[in-house]
Amino acid sequence: MNITSQLLREKFIGFFKERGHAVIASASLIPENDPSVLFTTAGMHPLIPYLLGQKHPAGRRLTDVQKCVRTGDIEEVGDDSHLTFFEMLGNWSLGDYFNHQSIAWSYEFLTSPKYLGLDSARISVTVFAGDDDAPRDEDSAKVWEQCGIPKERIFFLPKKNNWWIAGTTGPCGPDTEIFWDTGKPACSDHCDPSCDCGKYLEIWNNVFMQFNRQADGSYLPLEQKNVDTGMGLERTVCVLNGLKSVYDIDLFQGALAKIQQLSGKTYGVNSKITKAMRIIADHIRTATFLLGDPVGVVPSNVDQGYVLRRLIRRAVRMANTLEMPKGSIAQIAEVYIDVYRDVYTELGQNAEKIVDELNKEEERFSKTLIAGEKEFFKVIAHIPGNVVPGGTAFKLYDTFGFPVEMTVELAAENGYTVDVEGFKQKFAEHQAKSHAGSEQRFKGGMAEGGGIKTTHLHTATHLLQAALRRVLGDEVKQKGSNITPERLRFDFSFSRPMTAEEIAETERLVNEAIERHLPVTCEEMPIEDARKTGAIGLFGDRYGEVVKVYTMGDFSKEICGGPHANNTGELGHFVITKEQSSSAGVRRIKAELHK
Ligand code: ALA
Repeated sequence: MNITSQLLREKFIGFFKERGHAVIASASLIPENDPSVLFTTAGMHPLIPYLLGQKHPAGRRLTDVQKCVRTGDIEEVGDDSHLTFFEMLGNWSLGDYFNHQSIAWSYEFLTSPKYLGLDSARISVTVFAGDDDAPRDEDSAKVWEQCGIPKERIFFLPKKNNWWIAGTTGPCGPDTEIFWDTGKPACSDHCDPSCDCGKYLEIWNNVFMQFNRQADGSYLPLEQKNVDTGMGLERTVCVLNGLKSVYDIDLFQGALAKIQQLSGKTYGVNSKITKAMRIIADHIRTATFLLGDPVGVVPSNVDQGYVLRRLIRRAVRMANTLEMPKGSIAQIAEVYIDVYRDVYTELGQNAEKIVDELNKEEERFSKTLIAGEKEFFKVIAHIPGNVVPGGTAFKLYDTFGFPVEMTVELAAENGYTVDVEGFKQKFAEHQAKSHAGSEQRFKGGMAEGGGIKTTHLHTATHLLQAALRRVLGDEVKQKGSNITPERLRFDFSFSRPMTAEEIAETERLVNEAIERHLPVTCEEMPIEDARKTGAIGLFGDRYGEVVKVYTMGDFSKEICGGPHANNTGELGHFVITKEQSSSAGVRRIKAELHK
């Protein structure tokens, strides 16, 4: 079957529309209220409040095409199937239909000649094998059998494979995943869809969300049973057209042609060149969407901006190895803007910004790229063994603008590894020295710039959280934080509006902590130890092994990347300007520091 990406989008949305689903627009790539993830990695992020029970204005059946960014497998990009940006086709039941209907519709959409007409004999599925938290999903398996999938192609797998949760807490549940048999022979007698030999390609995941995972690891039943499904657009188009690689689908053809034209080299002949071209095609597509997003990110050294910088710089380095002229990456972005402008109008609207930011970042990096590479080769020529010292990686970062991951990659290309721990240590030392520096990549929630003002507001945010927990109780947990030089914004879990007395008491406690001139101290320790000290904060993966714990006298102890004021006395007078709802079960406070 020959099918374009646009036709698949239309068929999918049309199918669920016919079945009573309201079409909703893709949300931003930058999650508004979720400090545990940097990007929207699945269609469910923007819908979390509704999965938890809040009423969605469009109803109980929804369908969408959600843009997603996942950079966890960035090193794999360049092979046949990994991408850092993708579109996820989804259908949703918010307390309406459940697994029976969901599976039956998926099967119909995939196999009916009216829709995708895929050969049922090449479809395998997995279902949850059951454990102490939830039973074996015999029920879903039975529905698959009724659809015509024989027992031999229904695999029961554990939580590791057949359970979906975004991060570590929140709505979740067992899932059933749908795989396409690529036709490759099985790698062994034990080969099943969890094997990555390439025989099975996952194309759709139907999650039956019925639990809410708590911070202590327990599972509470949700108020309503939901369905969240996600079909990868690029992969499915690849399968439907019988192609070998996702880069062979229509969406990439313009960019790959442009890369060939600019480099004067041919795609698909030499594996190294092909890989470099795919990395450029992937990374510039993701960068285009991040820069063009309505919330929008620009390259920086923190959080989303750091990831964006890393994507662009890696693409620039690859473009350099292919001898592409200056300005090439912006020209590739222009191709993508044209490919996507009808579906994602924000790209057309932000075209100038996208091109401008890409050119600026290329310019910034090109100045030091060659010199940095020279430095790298000079160093490795003189070191014994094959480990690049942390100090060298730090110099490449600090002086030449090499994201450390890029140094690791450059090292690997030349048979070396990098002392990343040593790099982190140098980085931390440097941070300690330039205490009020506004750039730092291991922290969350702070916008760039504004120097000392944002630092003070950041410290005030810690005091605020500590005060809220005293006034409202320990159920208060940070859900989001955003700081500009003018104000702080703090989102936290709490189920009702605060009373005027509670707001006044919170303000009073923060000001008292400021007036007591509490020293602010920082200690680095393994995350386990931090937890034992009673420090609050995000215990997600993104903080890595060793974390910084900031202590403000006896008032606050929190895991954080900093930077902070040296003493709470520096802060000035704290004023809460707003207390409002943010989403279901989440309140938002805006506050300022006055001189
Ligand atoms: N949320 C599910 C996934 O991303 C559908 O796989």
